[in-house]
Amino acid sequence: MSPASRLAGLGTTIFTEMTALAVRTGAINLGQGFPDTDGPPAVVEAAVAALRGGENQYAPLPGVPALREAVLEHQRDWYGLEPEDVLITFGATEAIAAALLGLCDPGDEVVVLEPYYDSYAACIAFAGALRRPVTLGAPEFAVSAEALDAALTPRARVLLLNSPHNPTGRVLSREELELLAAACVAHDLICVTDEVYEHLVYDGEHIPIATLPGMAERTLTISSVGKSFSFTGWKIGWCSGPAPLVAAARMVKQYLTFAGGTPLQHGAAAALRLPRGEVAALAGDLRARRDELCAGLEAAGLRPFVPAGTYFVNADVGMDAVEFCAALPERCGVVAIPTSVFYDDKDAARALVRFAFCKRRDVIAEAAARLAGLG
Ligand SMILES: Cc1ncc(COP(=O)(O)O)c(C=O)c1O
Repeated sequence: MSPASRLAGLGTTIFTEMTALAVRTGAINLGQGFPDTDGPPAVVEAAVAALRGGENQYAPLPGVPALREAVLEHQRDWYGLEPEDVLITFGATEAIAAALLGLCDPGDEVVVLEPYYDSYAACIAFAGALRRPVTLGAPEFAVSAEALDAALTPRARVLLLNSPHNPTGRVLSREELELLAAACVAHDLICVTDEVYEHLVYDGEHIPIATLPGMAERTLTISSVGKSFSFTGWKIGWCSGPAPLVAAARMVKQYLTFAGGTPLQHGAAAALRLPRGEVAALAGDLRARRDELCAGLEAAGLRPFVPAGTYFVNADVGMDAVEFCAALPERCGVVAIPTSVFYDDKDAARALVRFAFCKRRDVIAEAAARLAGLG
């Protein structure tokens, strides 16, 4: 009664394990990346209005027109992009799955930055494809030309990119993106880019890889309402880009979940149309929390690598990170994640721990106070 061999090695996710540990021990959960406050009230109200306004049946397969238009408008207004098509999905997670299943044949290779968000490895495996990691190592977590070259073989089909990057908090520079774009063009790769943290950048700027020369026609851009707008429980995401790439994802999505979340799609449309000032305020608020947690980690004698974006900071804890995280709830009532779970190359992150700072200020202050007791 064993599962399919494709599933080998895909146990319970670390987030499920660590969140259960936090609940069991009453520890502060800085493991999983979800905010403990809601996003902007106007967005909630838009969803409520849709719920009360009879928007409660299946959405069209490509998504609710208001949200599809909002995504196209967002890509144009923020980045000057003109995607040919857009598909609304059950979070970015479904877009990633649908894209990989729709674009990869068994034996194809997917070049992916590691550490990587854990659904990438699972979806690559579901597609029968193989992952070829490009390792980002502390303290810079930078893309190197050598690592990229080493990952590229004639079987490479897709570059799966993520910037702003979970779990490192890196926002890739224009130079790094140019390096990756040049590889896509030279090897005729499709780029699938996960930009769910696009509006959570604290230093520098987010550059969508689709804006680089030669990339719009080979890039499927994925995002969602969860992270940037603090609605992770809604699971409304989307992908946009050239019509054939969106069509491949749509073909798969049609038989995964078809279409749903109709009222929440209306809410997500309102999120994408928020004034820029409000979007910047959300990021500014998170920046302050980043700084507070980094200061707390430093005061606790850990070595944080201050992230330019996302919800996460990594710290060097000066010992085996798996042991550190297993003992942390008992030692001081905090849960965090050993960053090595996001790497194939476990040695690249032996002493690194990922902490989430998308929590209320009082929760971060309490976590910092508890961590101070580690000494
Ligand atoms: C890089 C990255 N992509 C995608 C997701 C999931 O996005 P969604 O909740 O929209 O499915 C996450 C969530 O942690 C993430 O970190």
